[in-house]
Amino acid sequence: MDEVRLGVIGCGGMAQVHMRYFDSIAGLKFTAAADVDEQSLEKLKQQYEVRTFTDGYELINSGEVDAVFIATPHYFHPPYTLAAFEKGIHVLTEKPLAVTAKAAQEMVDAAAKRPELVFAAMFNQRATPLWREVKRLVATGEVGELMRVSWTIQSWCRTQAYYDSGGWRATWKGEGGGVLINQCPHNLDLLCWFVGQPTRVAAAQVGLGKYHHIEVEDEVNALLEFENGATGTFSTSTSEYSDINRLEIVGDNGTLIAEPGKPITLMRNNVPVRAFLMGDDRLRDRQGKTHVSIDPEKEGNSHRAIMENFINAILHEDELIAPAAEGVSGLELGNAMLLSGLKQQPVDLPTDRDAFDDFLSGLAERAMAK
Ligand SMILES: NC(=O)c1ccc[n+]([C@@H]2O[C@H](COP(=O)([O-])OP(=O)(O)OC[C@H]3O[C@@H](n4cnc5c(N)ncnc54)[C@H](O)[C@@H]3O)[C@@H](O)[C@H]2O)c1
Repeated sequence: MDEVRLGVIGCGGMAQVHMRYFDSIAGLKFTAAADVDEQSLEKLKQQYEVRTFTDGYELINSGEVDAVFIATPHYFHPPYTLAAFEKGIHVLTEKPLAVTAKAAQEMVDAAAKRPELVFAAMFNQRATPLWREVKRLVATGEVGELMRVSWTIQSWCRTQAYYDSGGWRATWKGEGGGVLINQCPHNLDLLCWFVGQPTRVAAAQVGLGKYHHIEVEDEVNALLEFENGATGTFSTSTSEYSDINRLEIVGDNGTLIAEPGKPITLMRNNVPVRAFLMGDDRLRDRQGKTHVSIDPEKEGNSHRAIMENFINAILHEDELIAPAAEGVSGLELGNAMLLSGLKQQPVDLPTDRDAFDDFLSGLAERAMAK
């Protein structure tokens, strides 16, 4: 195969942004598009010469595609993915993989039965130079054994008009959550990618429709615990009008601070901190640390990078930047934060996935009954 015939399912929203760079990717041939909204398809036909379908399954069964990019609301990612695998078609799905870890795991299990197929997720932030550098620094031991991770992400501000722009948005039935399932899948994925999945959400505060007229969460503060006893905090909302997005990862060997748009600060401990704490030095100043400032490369188009990588994984067996299988951890962490906050109890990971599904169904049923 020297080109991949790509079909897009769900064309009216974010997919439009992706389509703009399709032409620039060698080996990508955009051949088909599906959307339940005929107006979106009409608009699309004026720009691209592709076959269109009002049903994503028809596109999958059409023989027109080798791969699909699924950019529908989240709840449709799993059924389209499973249908594509049945048909021997490669899948790149938008984030999140699914709304619940159970549904995501089913997708991953289905993919495992078709190892010849590529299954990737549009975790485009994994392709940004800043987060790639953080990953490299942590993986090469610059931070050392984890002591604390804290991420404050208050740069996801969304207005009521945004929430009102689609009937599925910010409803339990249509979206299955708020900031944790729509904006934060990126951060939850990155957090697990950098330091692994926490083993416990010790506590969480979850505000439902606190600053917007929505059913779901628009504010979350969570306390995390890791297997080795390390702790963490995760603070986010769609309500603060700020650019704060600050990640701190602290370990035995050093402290790393990363914020988009700024160089990474790395404070290397001259002596591993645990050894220093137990030493006989009464003056903490003698421990000493070296400050390093690391400027990541200039930002490129991270969405395009993930798509290009997906195409090259199919054509040339390139290693995936964002294998979908790795997307379950972050999703499960988000599920656990929601459960912990709404039930006001600690939640251990891995979670009881059936119980979470029942819990979420209950939220949707109660919201529908109102
Ligand atoms: N990676 C990113 O940076 C990023 C950014 C935005 C959105 N997203 C993800 O993309 C997905 C879509 O979000 P959006 O903001 O574009 O939504 P949207 O509502 O703007 O667009 C979704 C499109 O899917 C169509 N659609 C709905 N149900 C469908 C179905 N069953 N079959 C086929 N088409 C269907 C709609 O008609 C619409 O055209 C979400 O999962 C979201 O999380 C990712």
